Amino acid sequence: MAQTLSRLFLSSLLLLLLSPLSLAIRTHVTKPSKSSALLNFQKSQAQKLIKSFNLSPKHDINTGNGHHAVDESPVGGPMMVEKPLRLNVLGDPGNNSIQDLGHHAGYYRLPDTVDARMFYFLFESRNNKSEDPVVIWLTGGPGCGSELALFYENGPFHIANNLSLLWNDFGWDQASNLIYVDQPTGTGFSYSSSANDTRHDEIGISNDLYNFLQGFFKLHPEYVNNDFYITGESYAGHYIPAFASRVHQGNKANEGIFINLKGFAIGNGLTDPEIQYPAYPDYALDMNLIQQSDYDNIESELVPPCKQAAPLCGTNGSATCIEAYMACTPIFNEIMNIAGNINYYDIRKQCVGQLCYNFSNMEKLLNEQSVRDALGVGDIEYVSCSSTVYEAMTMDWMRNLEVGIPALLEDGIKMLVYAGEYDLICNWIGNSNWVNAMAWSGQKGFTAASNVSFVVDGAEKGVMKSYGPLTFLKVHDAGHLVPMDQPKAALEMLRRWTQGSL
Ligand SMILES: *[C@@H]1O[C@H](CO)[C@@H](O)[C@H](O)[C@H]1NC(C)=O
Ligand SMILES: *[C@@H]1O[C@H](CO)[C@@H](O)[C@H](O)[C@H]1NC(C)=O
Ligand SMILES: *[C@@H]1O[C@H](CO)[C@@H](O)[C@H](O)[C@H]1NC(C)=O
Ligand SMILES: *[C@@H]1O[C@H](CO)[C@@H](O)[C@H](O)[C@H]1NC(C)=O
Ligand SMILES: *[C@@H]1O[C@H](CO)[C@@H](O)[C@H](O)[C@H]1NC(C)=O
Ligand SMILES: *[C@@H]1O[C@H](CO)[C@@H](O)[C@H](O)[C@H]1NC(C)=O
Ligand SMILES: *[C@@H]1O[C@H](CO)[C@@H](O)[C@H](O)[C@H]1NC(C)=O
Repeated sequence: MAQTLSRLFLSSLLLLLLSPLSLAIRTHVTKPSKSSALLNFQKSQAQKLIKSFNLSPKHDINTGNGHHAVDESPVGGPMMVEKPLRLNVLGDPGNNSIQDLGHHAGYYRLPDTVDARMFYFLFESRNNKSEDPVVIWLTGGPGCGSELALFYENGPFHIANNLSLLWNDFGWDQASNLIYVDQPTGTGFSYSSSANDTRHDEIGISNDLYNFLQGFFKLHPEYVNNDFYITGESYAGHYIPAFASRVHQGNKANEGIFINLKGFAIGNGLTDPEIQYPAYPDYALDMNLIQQSDYDNIESELVPPCKQAAPLCGTNGSATCIEAYMACTPIFNEIMNIAGNINYYDIRKQCVGQLCYNFSNMEKLLNEQSVRDALGVGDIEYVSCSSTVYEAMTMDWMRNLEVGIPALLEDGIKMLVYAGEYDLICNWIGNSNWVNAMAWSGQKGFTAASNVSFVVDGAEKGVMKSYGPLTFLKVHDAGHLVPMDQPKAALEMLRRWTQGSL
């Protein structure tokens, strides 16, 4: 019943979309009745994402609500204001005494915006900050703050049940100088009073991130010569290739400070939807989420319209990308209808109602006045995941971000694509398929390369394949959030990959 209803709903939306709305979207003259159907659909998708993490942001987007952060720079002042971050963390940081740890939080006033402020953390390496690479992490959503990763995945500390912070032995700051940014604008502690600063595509996003790096390295010339890596997860499978290309292009054109970009890593990402959506039934059948008869139905009824629509969106389509989204989403929805209430980030688990993870402590912590004071954000309220930012990216969703990657590989910039094996939504088969299908000078070498074990402490933690600058790694016993599920293996992966020994 639910299945039929959702199919009906989707197909009627699709009909709406294939008719006058396409034109309406192209020209930005939206007819309220029809565009509101899509908006409502996107709103419900965003709400579902937020509920699945047990988050409850007070605002749909961070506008600053009339406040400015206490430590941000006034107009005319420096672009970047950073302060030392002193949080009480229990346990042993490992190598250094706590006074030596360079933890910072700051705001960067984004150029080319009306009023946007980008919030970030810098955690200097616990190992050797002058030698270790600089690594930036981007969380997906789109529209979720990077604090999700900081506190639950690869940050220097985790949140205990009583909201104390505890050192994380496997924080990625054990092997890198680690930056987390809240982006796009309106996400996390990043804000703007102007809706004009809301981003809708990877051009806007990658320009903001490039500008942020320029500000960062201007303030931190001591890191300019360190190796630099871009990392992230999920929807960052879109951000990361665009950001890496933007940095590479800036370097080539001598646009600003040279960024020593050595590589980029995508964890359980969405990068090439045209290949990844048709991989859902393959993965679902392999993992026994659906039966062969279901598979045959999906393959004959739902996959062909998706395969037909997705290329029309391509790299820069607009209304065609909405059509592709509506044509491809039923594949995923049908699998979920059959599979029941599984956690699509980790098929070994069930969701309780809509709740798949419980990250509510993070919001509690970040909305405590003492923590906000320590971060220098003053009265700015934290927006864990912004539904408005999510909706603003609707047209970007189905775009193909693989196309910019070959040029980076040809110039020797490394790419690591890794995927926890139990994630459905950005599953390893879809990721493996696009990586193998990618045309570049090393394609033959890569596809023919043999699998090797990824061994940590004598145990196989994954299976990987490499050729030249390209590595694909399937991680065992992990879902969508690899550094949460396999913290030690994830840190080893980062360490070996950045040191060239993966
Ligand atoms: C401790 O840090 C120093 C640099 O401060 C580094 O050379 C050393 O390898 C680190 N040791 C461990 C066990 O992490
Ligand atoms: C970091 O490594 C370099 C080179 O191995 C070394 O000279 C330096 O002393 C190390 N830094 C610290 C703080 O140990
Ligand atoms: C909070 O929890 C941590 C870890 O479980 C524990 O070490 C600490 O003592 C607790 N703090 C308080 C105030 O209960
Ligand atoms: C925001 O964008 C609109 C439409 O492009 C423009 O008319 C307006 O001046 C912009 N506002 C600001 C503050 O730049
Ligand atoms: C996107 O832009 C490129 C040129 O920048 C063009 O060749 C291509 O046809 C455009 N459309 C799609 C759907 O990718
Ligand atoms: C989520 O976790 C918090 C903190 O542990 C707990 O108080 C709350 O009851 C949990 N919520 C749900 C719905 O399980
Ligand atoms: C390599 O590993 C992948 C993932 O486990 C598997 O699908 C593929 O068949 C393997 N390739 C070979 C040549 O064994």
